[in-house]
Amino acid sequence: SSAPVAELVDVARTVAREAGALVHEGRPDRPEVAATKTSAVDVVTAMDLASEELVRARLAELRPADGVLGEEGGHRPGTSGVTWVVDPIDGTVNYLYGIDAWAVSVAAVVDDVATAEGRAPDPATWRVLAGCVHSPADGRTFTAGAGAGAHLGERRLALPPSAPLDRCLVGTGFGYVAARRRAQARVLAELLPRVRDIRRIGSAALDLCGVAQGRLDLYYERGLQPWDMAAASLVVQEAGGTVTGLRGRPAGPAMTVAGPAARVAELVALLEHLDADGPEPEAAA
Ligand code: IPD
Repeated sequence: SSAPVAELVDVARTVAREAGALVHEGRPDRPEVAATKTSAVDVVTAMDLASEELVRARLAELRPADGVLGEEGGHRPGTSGVTWVVDPIDGTVNYLYGIDAWAVSVAAVVDDVATAEGRAPDPATWRVLAGCVHSPADGRTFTAGAGAGAHLGERRLALPPSAPLDRCLVGTGFGYVAARRRAQARVLAELLPRVRDIRRIGSAALDLCGVAQGRLDLYYERGLQPWDMAAASLVVQEAGGTVTGLRGRPAGPAMTVAGPAARVAELVALLEHLDADGPEPEAAA
């Protein structure tokens, strides 16, 4: 199981770049929606499927004993203890519309708890060893290795000094289901007057990497899936940032907050106060 971190970073970068090239060069003028998932606006394109197929095939060659958890193809357990967590296109709606902010995200994780119970790796218990978020449309490649730092291309990343919350540019994202969006809109209405501004860029993986790069001061989102955050959360942490959930819990589907530790603590307190992980009403109150 214990491949050196540097080797896992190389594998992540290699497969993310290959899949990214396939998806970027193969983009039709107007990609067609191949299927919908949790709602009519939660879409999969043929390229999501082709990208994940390529990643799975290349990982089977390069790391045959490892497991894979992919957004489109689900969980295939391995025997090595390492599982690759893959988002074949993060930012599918941007990809659909020809907006540049989409990425391929590939991470190697170890999760002894989940593995012992025969489950897929889980952000609550996993350790991310290596990750790559590759953005083909603008050529940015983020990589991180546990204990080995985070890089944008060759450049080592370090979070800039943090500004007070009212001068923070805060990224967020929304789910695909109406009840979740109602709850998210309520929180956003309270947050927007308290910060510099809000960005909804449309790729959680790139937003998290944006925090590491200094393009966003903070990021938060309810409803992130393991593949949205696996690689990018290591990029933030290895750049010196914090990635966490609310109420003392680790980052995960209930909430993910990322940025410099002091500012994250402030945003976490506000989100807790706003009950940002609370009930999601079926209709506006
Ligand atoms: C989505 C994007 C989006 C975020 C959603 C994710 P997908 O991933 O990361 O920015 O707000 O929560 O589901 O569906 O494009 O892979």
